[in-house]
Amino acid sequence: MDLRLCPCRKALLPSGLLFELLLLLLLADPALQAQRHPPVVLVPGDLGNQLEAKLDKPSVVHYLCSKRTDSYFTLWLNLELLLPVIIDCWIDNIRLIYNRTSRATQFPDGVDVRVPGFGKTFSLEFLDPSKSSVGSYFHTMVESLVGWGYTQGEDVRGAPYDWRRAPNENGPYFLALREMIEEMYQLYGGPVVLVAHSMGNMYTLYFLQRQPQAWKDKYIRAFVSLGAPWGGVAKTLRVLASDIVAPVSKFRSPLEVSLADWRQQPHPCHWASEDPGAAAVCSLHQLATALQSYLVT
Ligand SMILES: *[C@@H]1O[C@H](CO)[C@@H](O)[C@H](O)[C@H]1NC(C)=O
Repeated sequence: MDLRLCPCRKALLPSGLLFELLLLLLLADPALQAQRHPPVVLVPGDLGNQLEAKLDKPSVVHYLCSKRTDSYFTLWLNLELLLPVIIDCWIDNIRLIYNRTSRATQFPDGVDVRVPGFGKTFSLEFLDPSKSSVGSYFHTMVESLVGWGYTQGEDVRGAPYDWRRAPNENGPYFLALREMIEEMYQLYGGPVVLVAHSMGNMYTLYFLQRQPQAWKDKYIRAFVSLGAPWGGVAKTLRVLASDIVAPVSKFRSPLEVSLADWRQQPHPCHWASEDPGAAAVCSLHQLATALQSYLVT
């Protein structure tokens, strides 16, 4: 499963002999002889893992909203919470408040949010614990890995996080991730393959940039980047910046802070000038910069 081969695989496949030769070379790789397959860590994208909340709020936005809960309940993804009226309670719980003094986000008063299942895969396999197909995310990939001999929570693990927050506000997450990678290296006798999707790539890059080269050489076998928005995200910014998208506008306030993170803003450098969308992206970028300075300064 050396994913470094993927980009050239298509071209090589017609020539059976060449492909077999390559496979032989791969199997002769001493790193693969020592271990059947490298341990894998999955890093999900924005909205890409479950969140749980516990309430003890001084006030609520509607009499139907719960003020207090005895235990943690699923805040994301729980389709029942997205029904009319109830969705207003949900927004009041999932939103983050930007504190201009501390320059950091905080939970609303009386709301505690936690990320379930760090090191496990359930929280990113199904966003919705009822396992509805709507919430199926990393499930098919984990299923494939299990088919290749992997075991969930052992040599394939998930690294879910509070995706509402920017990486600089998720410090303890990166410490836990580092610890988990080192533990997997010890347990499974080799460096780890990081598989990230979407915004998980920004998180993974942020993490890797903060590790010494010697650490990466020792513990990281590969970083497989799936659907990374390296050039920024124009569509989500349009939702954020527009009042026209009425059905989605409800979601604006909970997403506002995380989407306003500069790491996700489309940057004109990454968009060809002859692209008909480039002008729009350019103005979106200016808008984003304005929004950023409004929110952060
Ligand atoms: C904002 O942060 C400051 C400094 O950390 C703190 O003193 C203040 O209570 C916070 N504001 C709110 C509304 O929580």
